[in-house]
Amino acid sequence: MPSTFDPANQRPNAAERYTLSPDETSNRLIFANGSASHVLHPVWLRERTEEDGTIDTGSMQRLYDPALLDADLRADAVEDSDGATTVTWSDGHVQRVDHLAVARELGWEHDPIAIPKPAAWSVEPAPFPRVAWPAEGDDAAVLAALDAFWTHGFVVFTGTPTEPGSLEQIASRFGIVRETNFGLLFDVFSKPNPVDLAYTPIELKAHTDNPYRRPVPSIQFLHCLVNDATGGESTLVDGLAASEDYAAIDPDGHRALTETMVTYRYHYANERLASRSPIIETDTDGSFAGIRNSDRLDFVDAVDADTLDIFFRARTGLRTLLNDPSRRATFLLAPGDVMMMNNRRLLHGRNSYELESGMRHLQGCYIELDGPDMLRKKLAL
Ligand SMILES: [Fe+2]
Repeated sequence: MPSTFDPANQRPNAAERYTLSPDETSNRLIFANGSASHVLHPVWLRERTEEDGTIDTGSMQRLYDPALLDADLRADAVEDSDGATTVTWSDGHVQRVDHLAVARELGWEHDPIAIPKPAAWSVEPAPFPRVAWPAEGDDAAVLAALDAFWTHGFVVFTGTPTEPGSLEQIASRFGIVRETNFGLLFDVFSKPNPVDLAYTPIELKAHTDNPYRRPVPSIQFLHCLVNDATGGESTLVDGLAASEDYAAIDPDGHRALTETMVTYRYHYANERLASRSPIIETDTDGSFAGIRNSDRLDFVDAVDADTLDIFFRARTGLRTLLNDPSRRATFLLAPGDVMMMNNRRLLHGRNSYELESGMRHLQGCYIELDGPDMLRKKLAL
């Protein structure tokens, strides 16, 4: 299949030309431009081929198993031209290598369909990510809202319908609504003389929703239908920023939070759920991948007491950061407002409110991160 790469249109800076050349001392290849170089493994490059017969052009899935490629694969010929290189491999395959695609995989070039990198915040983001509910077909507004969501971990939409149940359609614009044992939508409301703890007006500290699920729901929507109560402001805190800040304060403690397994449990009547993870999840390079915070549902493994000394110190230290009012975004949801937040990165809560002051009715639901990811790519192309 011919490459769709057009160097004349897509290479951002002609002065920064890329080259691909064989390494003199090994079967590796050197990808370079004026200021950087990277050694490429031949199989890494060869398994990215999109030449005729190697992939299904509809699904872009491979038609062969790259695990069966020759482990000693090498480039017999490398012919560099403007914006691309043609490599003739030792197994006879001829591959045109798109320089821009390689540069994007190495993180050297901006990828227009990649999701924006998160920006950690330890005080409320300014300007506050509040946007009018985009009209149908207003792709630019949807993209801007999604970029705010990826950057800050949340966005608040204003001016959505206030009919009960309308959240399902609102959230469906971004992904498939995930049903839980609380239903497709769940209600958060109060009324005088409550008969259930769910209807109490007490403060809710920074927490992860459903930390006991596998997988933990990654995005929560909260839709305000009625809010006549005094108080009850929504609160958010950035778990990414808190994790980074705590790592700087107490590296050993932070490591304990990333390595010590915790079980999150939900037991109600005959419904029992449990899920295990460290409080802070990291990628293999140590970078932040997610956080679960629940002061009501977390039970650490019975590891040795010395490790628990460090773990408990760190859990207290991290919670102190997460519950620090100066780190919070605090805002009142008005009727028609919808908060969309990353439940794997941010922790959410609520200030207490006066029960007798008026009705407060919100509805919530969950979708997964791949929904907005897919939508963004579709709109950005
Ligand atoms: Fe919650």
